[in-house]
Formats: sequence, structure tokens, C-alpha cells
Amino acid sequence: MSYYLKHLQVVAERFDEALTSQGFDSVLIYAGQPRVAFLDDNAYPYRVNPFFKYWVPVTESPKSFIFYRKGEKPRVFLFQARDFWHAQPQLPPGEWKEACDVTLIDNIASVRSALGKELENTAFIGETFPPMDEWPVAAINPQGLIDHLHYQRAVKTDWEIDNMFKANVLAARGHNAARDAFFAGKSELEINQAYLQAMKFRETQVPYNSIVALNQHGAVLHYDVYDPEAPAEHRSFLIDAGAYYNGYCADITRSYAAKDGFYAELIEAVDAAEQAIIADVKPGVSYLDLHVSMHQKIAQILAEFGFFKVDANTIYERGYTRAFFPHGLGHFIGLQVHDVGGFLKNAQGDAFERNPQHPFLRLLREVEENQVFTIEPGIYVVDQLLEEFDGNEDFNWNRIAELRPFGGVRIEDSVRVTATGAENITRDAFTSLK
Ligand code: GLY
Ligand code: MN
Ligand code: MN
Repeated sequence: MSYYLKHLQVVAERFDEALTSQGFDSVLIYAGQPRVAFLDDNAYPYRVNPFFKYWVPVTESPKSFIFYRKGEKPRVFLFQARDFWHAQPQLPPGEWKEACDVTLIDNIASVRSALGKELENTAFIGETFPPMDEWPVAAINPQGLIDHLHYQRAVKTDWEIDNMFKANVLAARGHNAARDAFFAGKSELEINQAYLQAMKFRETQVPYNSIVALNQHGAVLHYDVYDPEAPAEHRSFLIDAGAYYNGYCADITRSYAAKDGFYAELIEAVDAAEQAIIADVKPGVSYLDLHVSMHQKIAQILAEFGFFKVDANTIYERGYTRAFFPHGLGHFIGLQVHDVGGFLKNAQGDAFERNPQHPFLRLLREVEENQVFTIEPGIYVVDQLLEEFDGNEDFNWNRIAELRPFGGVRIEDSVRVTATGAENITRDAFTSLK
């Protein structure tokens, strides 16, 4: 059986279990539709409901539905407008068309008539729009059902892992082109265009706004301005950019130094720490422990590079690393770039509290085989975070001032947990291009 057909079987089994536990017979999933800007007739870019693309690799068919009744073949109501204004979306080829019963619709009301009484014990998952919000379904986005499905989604099927590898291959191609554009002295805008061009993507086809940051811009964690002018000097380049493949995400960060020197060495040190943490990944470890262990490694790097006058242990104990590495070690990735389920303890929806010491960490669950998550340590000069330490003599402010014009460093890969360790999907993707 193909990866896709096995995946579909797993998805159906997961829905069978979740629907049974919540007392529903069936589910109706709406793909969603583009939202129109206020007082305007132009729409924002469309993003498909992740639960829709969980079943079928169809990401550009808004107003479509999937109906699934426990134990039966999924029914896809594919919206194809009778419309001479727009091009019809091209449907991706593949086995999904045979694996599901596909009906073409040009009017969403026809789904209500086709399903009739079947709607009554059906849970609806998706954004509702008039008139669908009045359909006689049993529940709209019931939290218990969504939690159950989100909990299960953390463990990926072979089909999902393969799609994420392919998304990483695409993104790696873009990253190589962006690196070359940096060394050719291009602007942020030009580098971003080189990134998209290498993948043959338009800007709305990436999973999040790419971060293309030259020099001090690398310290802005979600920098998504693309300066059209090249700076007078290229010192450093931080790029955090991904891709989609069949609706699955890549999320990769690389940092580059224009010249040899301490900033280039800092990149090597963060890269080595990232790979050392990946070597510790295996089923049964806690992701929070990995995150804490990364703070200890960051403390060592900060000490070695002379950013402090106290030793690594003191840097860690006094919580100084949080000013330089303020975000989480990483997150689940899959149908969504920050994929779901990282706070769930079980399928019943019990959740871990956010850790007050590490409030931005989105993944608190134990590591299990076939989870896929990112590992993304960084070191940045974020002045807003350093303010509270103003005048603190433990800090070597002169050394910190030397790093400020470079912004920071981040290295980010996606890894799949194996039975005994982890496989680095992102590095395997870069290697496949050589
Ligand atoms: N690009 C967003 C993140 O790394 O989580
Ligand atoms: Mn990430
Ligand atoms: Mn990222």
C-alpha cells in the first residue's frame, strides 16, 4: 500500500476514535474561503483549514468540504465555480481521487441538501460563513473533538514525513539561492526574490513571512520587512524561511558571516550546540529538558566568547541566557508551521501549563517516535531585553556592543524522532542537493 493510502487509513482510524469518544457519527470539514477586506471586494490570501489537507493534498480549492462517517469512504465535495472571471484551481493529481468519493459542486447549499439528515449527528470543523452557520449540525468546532485530533496529530505518518522532507528540499534550494544573493551583495528584497524564484513560488505560497535580515536586523525575532536598498556593508545574514509541499511545512534558519572573525565563530558555536542537542533527542526524553540543556550550552558560548565577566554556571544560574535566547528551543511542525498538540498531555485535552520560566516554549510534551519538531537555538543582541540589566557588572558591555551590528545568530532544523534517536530532515535535504 502506498504512503498516502496508509496515511488515509491512519487519519480515518484517528477520526473513528475521536468521533466515538465525543459521541458523534460523522464530521464535516470545511476547507474555508478567502476573507474579503473591509469595504472592499479584494480578498486576503487564502489558507486551507489544516484538517482538510490532513485528508487530501488539496490546498487551493476553497469552499470545498469533506464529509466522513465512521468506517465509510470519505466524501469530498469539491467546489468548482461556474465562473468566467477566474481560472479554475488545478487539482493535484494522485490517489486521493480514487480513495475518496469526489462530487463537484458549484454551490455550498448543495452540500446541505446532499447530506440531509446525516448532518444531525455530525460535528462541523472549520470557519463558518452564512448560511452554513445555520446548518443543523450537532456541534460546531467542539473543543473535545479538536483536542483529541490535535493530540494524535503530533505523531506523523510516513506520508507526512516524506512531504516534509520534500518541503525541506524545496526550501533548501531557496536557501542556497538566498545565500548566494547575500554574498553577491544584494538587498533584503532581492534576496527574498531570489529565495522565491529558486522554488518557483509566489510570496503567498510560503508558510510564514520569510525573515530575511541583514546586519542588525537579525536581532528582530520576526523581522519581516524587506529593505529594497542594500546596506553600505554586508556583515551578517540571518534567513528563516520555509516552504510547503502537499500542504506540509518546512521551517529552516541559517546564519552567514560575510567575513571570518568572531561572528563567524559564533555561528559555528551555535551550530555545534544545535547538533549536540539533536544528538540527545530520542523517545522518552522531555523536550523541556532539551530546552533547559540548550540554555546551559548557550551560557557556555556566552562565557567562551567573552560576553560576561562571570563563568558559564553563573550566567545560567542568574538567568542571563534568557536575555540572549528569549524564544523556545522549537515546536512541532507538520500541516502548520507551529503545529498543534505541544501543550496536550493526552487525547482528553488535559494540558500542560506554560512554563513561567520559559513562557515562549510551545512544546512541553514527552518526545515520541515519529514526532517531527524543530530545534532552533539562537543568540541575539535585543536591546529591549538587555535594558533590565543596565549597569550590571557581570556583563561585558563592550563585547556585547561588538555583536550588536551583526544582530544575532539562529540555526534551525527539523528533526524526526526515530526508535532510538533522531533524523535531521533539514540537513538530509541540503545533502540531497549536492
Ligand atoms: N519561523 C518561525 C519559527 O521559526 O518558529
Ligand atoms: Mn521554527
Ligand atoms: Mn523558523
